[in-house]
Amino acid sequence: MGNCLADCRCTTHKAITSEPVCGAIHIPITIGGRWSTPLRPVVLPPQREKFPPVALPTPNCEGDTLASPNLKPFTYHELKNATKNFRNLIGEGGFGCVYKGWINLQTLGAAKPGAGTVVAVKKLKPEGFQGHKEWLSEVKYLGQLHHPNLVRLIGYCLDGDKRLLVYEYMPKGSLENHLFRRGAEPLSWAVRMKVAIGAARGLSFLHDSKQQVIYRDFKASNILLDLEYNAKLSDFGLAKAGPTGDLTHVTTQVLGTHGYAAPEYIATGRLSVRCDVYSFGVVLLELLSGRRAVDKTKVGVEQNLVDWAKPYLGDRRKLFRIMDITLEGQYPKKGAFMAATLAWECLGDAKHRPSMAEVLACLEKIPVPKEGVNRISNFDRLQPMSIPSPRSPPRRHHHHHRSPSSTDRTPRATSPFATQVKSPLSKSPHED
Ligand SMILES: Nc1ncnc2c1ncn2[C@@H]1O[C@H](COP(=O)(O)OP(=O)(O)OP(=O)(O)O)[C@@H](O)[C@H]1O
Ligand SMILES: [Mg+2]
Repeated sequence: MGNCLADCRCTTHKAITSEPVCGAIHIPITIGGRWSTPLRPVVLPPQREKFPPVALPTPNCEGDTLASPNLKPFTYHELKNATKNFRNLIGEGGFGCVYKGWINLQTLGAAKPGAGTVVAVKKLKPEGFQGHKEWLSEVKYLGQLHHPNLVRLIGYCLDGDKRLLVYEYMPKGSLENHLFRRGAEPLSWAVRMKVAIGAARGLSFLHDSKQQVIYRDFKASNILLDLEYNAKLSDFGLAKAGPTGDLTHVTTQVLGTHGYAAPEYIATGRLSVRCDVYSFGVVLLELLSGRRAVDKTKVGVEQNLVDWAKPYLGDRRKLFRIMDITLEGQYPKKGAFMAATLAWECLGDAKHRPSMAEVLACLEKIPVPKEGVNRISNFDRLQPMSIPSPRSPPRRHHHHHRSPSSTDRTPRATSPFATQVKSPLSKSPHED
């Protein structure tokens, strides 16, 4: 923990803290506020805390956090002008609303619509201690981490009880909107794979950073897209520094979003990078199936995407049953099977889950058909590899016990990663 106030350059902004550390000034905020929208990360039961919940980023001193030289501190008035009094609503989450704004990149002051750079301004709902912590975490992580697959945080506003965040504007919005919004133009197979690769790069970067970061809230609504469908991760409100030394996990409060959180984390509060890998598997399934991780409009097993889809993932001949019908069959079967196999790996037992670097390497090996190819047979012709005999054993070595459907008697196709493409997943099990 550093000197929290000494070099804070945002002198117009009070340095605050939500924990009594560093002797910093406290700003009164509502304690115990809860998120109201179902999309919002929620506390997932059961909650087994070994220690009191510590969701604040380290350093815990907000003076340090806000002193990031990469971030511009805005006044509320500036952002009110930049957004034309919060007129253009882009979206809404549990944190608050997101508005379109315009700023001059040189002066970083408000600009006329059309004249400056478009930004997205997220305005925190006034209530909520959790919201404040998430805001702080976002500033801390995105103020320091820079990568083409992380959304750029331009600045923030801490003005009285107002908390806002200013991001680069992502013109294609969230993956969630593209996949699930009624009337949305279906994403092609090639775009889906591009999004998966971009998001995997973002996660992989976080996991392999010098100070490892666990993202903890990987889901379709937090994957934002630019004009070319490059994916960028947003929302670092729940991000957490990874374990240090020989530890493989941190024990912490169970936070996340239903349907995406890894079962072992929900059960034990042990958070590791493998939890992000699980969430990645869920999003990969959403990309394949066009279904939400949790869909309360469905009945029985279909409400939970993983429960419903898992038995089909290892079966080349049945996979089509879970594929998004809006793809209208326009996807390469072999590529789809490779992606499904990978999703299955990600959703498996934590010890055997691949790392994000391995996931990324696998995704990059899935051949991409040229856009505009509209015959399935053409897709298949584009595959550079020959697929092994369907009589080969279903899974490779150490994963046998995790066959997705033990009751299924149809001959199972071999994992495409097992032979032609040397899968990084076929390495020895990961130490955990
Ligand atoms: N930088 C951005 N550029 C363009 N649109 C954005 C940007 N940030 C957010 N949005 C839009 O605003 C919506 C709301 O984002 P927000 O992060 O507040 O909530 P959410 O991700 O949908 O839910 P949650 O609160 O659970 O994270 C997003 O789904 C997206 O459509
Ligand atoms: Mg979000």
